[in-house]
Amino acid sequence: MSFEIETLDKEKNIDLITIYDERSKIQFTNFGMRIVDWKIDDRSVILGPTESDDLIEYYEQNPYFFGATVARYGGRIENGQFVLNGESYQLEQNDGVHNLHGGSNGLYTQVCDYDIVNEDDIVRIVYHVELKHSVDHFPGDINMTVTHQYDLTNLKWTIIYEATSTEDTLLNPMNHVYFNLNETNASIENHQLHHNVQFYPLKDNQIVESLDTENINVEIGKDSITFKDIFDSGFQQINQFNGIDHPVTLEDGTFKVSNDELELEMTTDQNEVVIFTLNEVDWNDHEDSINVHSGFTLETQSLPNDINLLNETAPSILRKGDTFNSVTSYQINYKK
Ligand code: GAL
Repeated sequence: MSFEIETLDKEKNIDLITIYDERSKIQFTNFGMRIVDWKIDDRSVILGPTESDDLIEYYEQNPYFFGATVARYGGRIENGQFVLNGESYQLEQNDGVHNLHGGSNGLYTQVCDYDIVNEDDIVRIVYHVELKHSVDHFPGDINMTVTHQYDLTNLKWTIIYEATSTEDTLLNPMNHVYFNLNETNASIENHQLHHNVQFYPLKDNQIVESLDTENINVEIGKDSITFKDIFDSGFQQINQFNGIDHPVTLEDGTFKVSNDELELEMTTDQNEVVIFTLNEVDWNDHEDSINVHSGFTLETQSLPNDINLLNETAPSILRKGDTFNSVTSYQINYKK
């Protein structure tokens, strides 16, 4: 058996699920379908609570959505408003006047039922999820399965989404894990990115301004660029937000980030990834281990606010009768 389940709160049905062998250990909780920790040879490659004792309280308070599954909608919808099929919808405004990550009752607050499937070195946690119009005010009720699969041999965590809706609606799920491949969580500055990146510009209110990425085009030229190079690049957009908080179009569905020892290889069927570099910190854990730029996200999803930029052609629209399918995986490779 390569997994264990620990009950954290019997009444609330909250569990901690650990999948492990000698080389790696990955932990998940059904509270917000979070990834809690991922250790390769004892080195943690993500940000999360250092002890499981106060895990529930930690996630109730953490304002950065550490490790959480976000749905129905990752990112901001401007003014919490959109029009679909000629009808106007007003969502909760939980981030100033905007709707962020689906609202304050988003999936990250829910405790989900699950089954575990264990086949040799691959363990799957299959979550059964309902998103209700009566809770988040998006149209329609969504029935979704979210699978977190861990392949112990290949050090590969895969997320599989499948969903249908009772009405035409929006669905733009993602996971809000923060990576840091270093031994300590001091800073991700030394991490290298192995792609040219073109950031979508944001307005002052953090909403994606336009589909034109021409002005913030970071060309690697050589074979990599570090986060420090980007932070120091002088781009007005990077200075204004004290780091990266921008969507990027993926060239071929992959994205690699590495330090001297490890490489994180992301693969997805989504066209965009939002990179956020934890640009301000005003909440901390007991050990003050969360710092500005101490982690980065790779949120694979459609462009935030796509419904207001692309209207009826927005990729996040899920039509009644259609099935939403999406797969993203994160793999850790040792560098030679
Ligand atoms: C990101 C978002 C950031 C910030 C963060 C949560 O997805 O782009 O602006 O809100 O979530 O701390």
